[in-house]
Amino acid sequence: MTTPQFYQLHNANSPAQQAAIRSELTEGLLLPQATVSPKYLYDALGSRLFDAITELPEYYPTRTEGAILAQQLPQIAQQIPKGAALIDLGAGSCEKAARLFEALQIAHYIPVDISVEYLRHTVQRLQREHPQIRMSGVGLDFSSSLALPPELMAQISGRPVVVFYPGSSIGNFAPDEARALLSRAHALCATGGAGGGLLIGVDLVKPSEILEPAYDDALGVTASFNLNMLLNINNLIGSDFAPQDWQHIAFFDAKLSRIEMHLQAKRDVTVQWPGHSRAFKRGEDIHTENSYKWTLPGFAELLQSAGFAAPKSYTDAKDWFSVHWARASVA
Ligand code: AVJ
Repeated sequence: MTTPQFYQLHNANSPAQQAAIRSELTEGLLLPQATVSPKYLYDALGSRLFDAITELPEYYPTRTEGAILAQQLPQIAQQIPKGAALIDLGAGSCEKAARLFEALQIAHYIPVDISVEYLRHTVQRLQREHPQIRMSGVGLDFSSSLALPPELMAQISGRPVVVFYPGSSIGNFAPDEARALLSRAHALCATGGAGGGLLIGVDLVKPSEILEPAYDDALGVTASFNLNMLLNINNLIGSDFAPQDWQHIAFFDAKLSRIEMHLQAKRDVTVQWPGHSRAFKRGEDIHTENSYKWTLPGFAELLQSAGFAAPKSYTDAKDWFSVHWARASVA
């Protein structure tokens, strides 16, 4: 019986980390355009609200990506070498990656998430279902580094490395940051055996009439997801945000090719937390998320600028979403 291994590379609960979180949030809240990173949307309740979003009729990305992968899996698998190490960025429930195990004949599964605690139970269960696959969970903030533990790098040495980054999570990054992240993914693939690369899901530009409801649904689940960030911030810095003073706003900026989410003050409010306060006029807002939308040629160019070969791209019949397989080596 194989047992999975776990590595925690950054300690989310250390006093130093907590101080860093407090200063990051304080700095963002005091900017003229108050801004908070979308990573603060995902406390325990936020993660559940996001799961609920993926079930909404308006939120097409998750189901469209699932359909593309299910339908194209045989063609995709043909291009990917067997016996790879699969590095799953933002793995969470590991559900999407598990659907690839058989077709890709994965030898070593490496889910990466911000906290290894999110991974522990799922990976232990998955390991029982797939005793032939080696599994190593990694707790790492991969938005700043993709450096895996040396012990783990030694275990995958010689294997093709396949980085899996589904869900259009790349959309949270502005183009330059996205290029930097993809370059780090490319460097990781390049350490492995021949034929490795990146399998990534990317949401596409489409009319606002379809995009905007996906981020402002009729049931108000996305509004709750966004407003819940205020409760998370209260827990993290001891602020006194009252969700009822704020409203969810989401719109597509076609020029910047991104959905923006904001929380707008419904009346004049002053928010206080230890050592600080911020007055918001009615109508002033906090910018909480960007979700960039790409065109197929635009994303192919981004992949190539990060060092990848021209991708093989797969879409649904409406061209709403895309999945790209891009080899690390151009040869
Ligand atoms: C998890 C970043 C891909 O941008 O569609 C969903 C997050 N925000 N609804 C997205 C999100 C509001 C989601 N990503």
